[in-house]
Amino acid sequence: MKGYRLMAGLFVGFCMTVLMPGFCLAAEDVRTVVVATDATWPPMEMVDTNKNIVGYDIDFMNAVAKEAGFNAVFKNTAWDGIFSGLAGGKYDAIISSVTITKERQEKYDISDPYFNAGQILVVSKTLEGVTSLADMKGKKVGAQIATTGAIEIKKVAGIELKNYDEIGLAFEDMAAGRINGVVCDTPVAANYALQKKEYKEKFMIVGEPFTNEFYGIVVKKGNKDLLDLINKGISAVQKKGIDKQLEEKWLR
Ligand code: ARG
Repeated sequence: MKGYRLMAGLFVGFCMTVLMPGFCLAAEDVRTVVVATDATWPPMEMVDTNKNIVGYDIDFMNAVAKEAGFNAVFKNTAWDGIFSGLAGGKYDAIISSVTITKERQEKYDISDPYFNAGQILVVSKTLEGVTSLADMKGKKVGAQIATTGAIEIKKVAGIELKNYDEIGLAFEDMAAGRINGVVCDTPVAANYALQKKEYKEKFMIVGEPFTNEFYGIVVKKGNKDLLDLINKGISAVQKKGIDKQLEEKWLR
């Protein structure tokens, strides 16, 4: 034991004086990056029956971390306030199906795009004659608060936007007949309307995605060091085709 400690001490000393200190830090213990996610957005981020945070984004972030040589730890965080928590230093990054928008890029630094998920409309199967969001004039349409889906609904004059803290509550309200449609990211719409057994008889997807949106991983403005690390990881993950494997796993 003593001998081991001595050896370890000598190794650290050798590292600090002779080799690059940064290298030794990495060899000693891997950097931990705390990542916030609003795990209410299946199949991208959600909580499973064992209360674990799982989904495409979680696997993707872990793969990015592995490729870039850091350790990701996830923190389930409500969407409303997830950006201000980053600015306030509560965590280092956000992976939460965040669409890269100009407004967000002005306030935060966002990684290279890693996933394309446009907005799409979901309605009840009993609703007739609706082929696009514009046909929802005079009706109530729900979205998660402050998402790009909510922004799209606001663009159509005459639709009454209903904001929800979680998208699951919007689908619940639609099942109960309190709203007429829901707008959200395509993979989430597919999950609710085509996969959930309580809903798949009731809901249908209207047409094709009507926006092109790319997800990015968000860091605090100016955190170039972490942004570079994440982009390095994303590029390695994409080169190895890990993203395609994750699509097979979570989106088929
Ligand atoms: N892509 C949309 C946006 O960035 C919705 C993201 C919501 N994500 C979540 N985990 N609830 O506005």
